[in-house]
Amino acid sequence: MATRKIVEIGDEKLRKHAKKVEKFDLRLRILLKDMADTMYKADGVGLAAPQVGILKRAVVVDVGESLIELVNPEIVSAEGEQSGPEGCLSVPGRSGIVVRPERVTVRAQNAHGEPIEVTGEGFLARAFCHEIDHLDGHMYTEFAEKMLTQEELDELLKQEQEAEEGEETEA
Ligand code: NI
Repeated sequence: MATRKIVEIGDEKLRKHAKKVEKFDLRLRILLKDMADTMYKADGVGLAAPQVGILKRAVVVDVGESLIELVNPEIVSAEGEQSGPEGCLSVPGRSGIVVRPERVTVRAQNAHGEPIEVTGEGFLARAFCHEIDHLDGHMYTEFAEKMLTQEELDELLKQEQEAEEGEETEA
């Protein structure tokens, strides 16, 4: 397991447009593996290469289902809308309310350069949008409707959990 240092907001690398990956070599596979290790160690659900200082179009996402590696990802369709809290490993201790599509389909390549297509809904769709934004130098803090304090986030998550429990009891 090899982790890399996560660069934080204020670092100019987070503002740059990342380059398309052309070589699907061992170096890329090591980068993806290190990014996954770094994400898991930091308890994150996604990480983009610029967040470890590498300006390449590569992201990893795992919202608790399985690890998804996306190279040269592009959102090819988006539907619906969701509004909810979002955070970023490059903006420690902060979160904000961000509106995202409810469902997105992403076309990308895997670590070996083979074409893949994945569709995500809800939190997974949010993670895809957030990570792909990083490849174009964008951070959620630019378009958050409202930034939250830790207390506000805790309260919101508590309310969401109570609402879910309520639904389960009614069902
Ligand atoms: Ni982020």
